[in-house]
Amino acid sequence: MARVVLGMLGCGTVGTGVIRLLSQHNTLHLKKVAIKDAGKQRAVTLPCPLTTDPAELVDDPEIEVLIEVMGGEEPALTLIKKAIDKRKHIVTANKEVLAKHGPELFKLSRQKGVAIFFEASVAGGVPLISTIQKGLEANKINSVVGILNGTTNFILSSMEEKGEDFQTALKKAQELGYAEADPTSDIEGYDVAYKLSILSALAFGKFAEPKTIFRQGIAAIAPQDFINAKQFGYRIKLLGRTQMNERGLNTRVQPHLVPLGHPLAAVSGANNGIVVNGDAVGELTMIGPGAGELPTASAVVGDVINLESALGLPDFASYFQAAISPSFADLADPGDWVSPHYIRLEVKDTPGVIGRIGTAFGNHQLSIRSIIQKDASQGQASVVVMTQAAPTRNMDAAIEELKQEQFLRDQAVVLPLLEATS
Ligand SMILES: NC(=O)c1ccc[n+]([C@@H]2O[C@H](COP(=O)([O-])OP(=O)(O)OC[C@H]3O[C@@H](n4cnc5c(N)ncnc54)[C@H](OP(=O)(O)O)[C@@H]3O)[C@@H](O)[C@H]2O)c1
Repeated sequence: MARVVLGMLGCGTVGTGVIRLLSQHNTLHLKKVAIKDAGKQRAVTLPCPLTTDPAELVDDPEIEVLIEVMGGEEPALTLIKKAIDKRKHIVTANKEVLAKHGPELFKLSRQKGVAIFFEASVAGGVPLISTIQKGLEANKINSVVGILNGTTNFILSSMEEKGEDFQTALKKAQELGYAEADPTSDIEGYDVAYKLSILSALAFGKFAEPKTIFRQGIAAIAPQDFINAKQFGYRIKLLGRTQMNERGLNTRVQPHLVPLGHPLAAVSGANNGIVVNGDAVGELTMIGPGAGELPTASAVVGDVINLESALGLPDFASYFQAAISPSFADLADPGDWVSPHYIRLEVKDTPGVIGRIGTAFGNHQLSIRSIIQKDASQGQASVVVMTQAAPTRNMDAAIEELKQEQFLRDQAVVLPLLEATS
């Protein structure tokens, strides 16, 4: 079999794993690797020369497939575009570039007759992309919901299991290497938004522009929310959801109360878990490592092997090119999202508070499933409200009304419930 010539941009965590796995495949020839710092010690013996000039790979006519594992928006975007222009196939793990520039990149790849593979960009080692793209081709996808960020899942699991507050759990995650020194992208939900953008393209044919995706991070969640959730039969998880309904594409990143019996409630630590709902298959759950050197390299090298197996076939690129629109999706108004909610309000323990909370909710057509006052001491109390399903807009309006009240002591914590069927 002829050897396929590869170039690789980046040799960090993922690139190192790719080199380890490629050593087991002698039909794949890695010709050159581009890095930033030529003086850096590498964790693996390089089978080829290194360069600090990525153009050497992009301009090399012998390189057929460019693996991009350098990350970040630039210069990765420009290099990928140039490589496509020179008719190289792309294998990338870069969720940020795909989420922000997917429509343009897939349009360009179709024009040039090349394929873009991106299994590693969502859920690391879990073969989610190929499952949706090929395995579920006979289905109309109804929804994709998942735990798509291992860092926040690790933090939330620690808070729940050890009763730690958010800052303590974050610090521990940083010490163990699960969270970066600047954790903003993970804890504020940007990372999940990128992944949801890509999943929307696969499931519904259009990328969701990341800046238009509704996002709520995990920093406001406190240890007592896990205790309250457990008493009602739930666990708290940061979920990414994308689903099409009559109002358009609903795509959101938000911590949810997940019923203890739901498959996503069992996804603990740094793992990822995804439930895909297709009209024919029903619900399909996948759980596994969403990051790490070898799990992510497994997805990257799997893509390369897939590409290799088809390279000689006529017009093979079109087989792998997903039917993705050249424009971003119009997202539904986040206020239209209908869900039951959990609300924790920290209040001054004065007579009539519960009645006034009930009135504010009633003013915005919110039915209450239960309302409980907890932990009253030293003139303070926690009020926990569980509502029936209602548009998020109504919930926001009720909270705004309550903010005018003197008895409210702190920001309300408002989390939707993942219903067994949602
Ligand atoms: N890490 C994971 O578990 C994981 C999981 C899923 C997806 N991903 C995605 O995989 C990609 C790579 O992640 P990673 O964790 O492997 O990153 P990383 O450890 O930071 O490695 C990045 C590599 O790219 C090189 N690089 C950066 N800027 C460069 C430039 N301007 N020119 C040439 N080389 C450059 C760096 O060179 P030096 O080594 O010289 O600094 C380094 O080798 C990202 O898109 C990430 O989102 C990662």
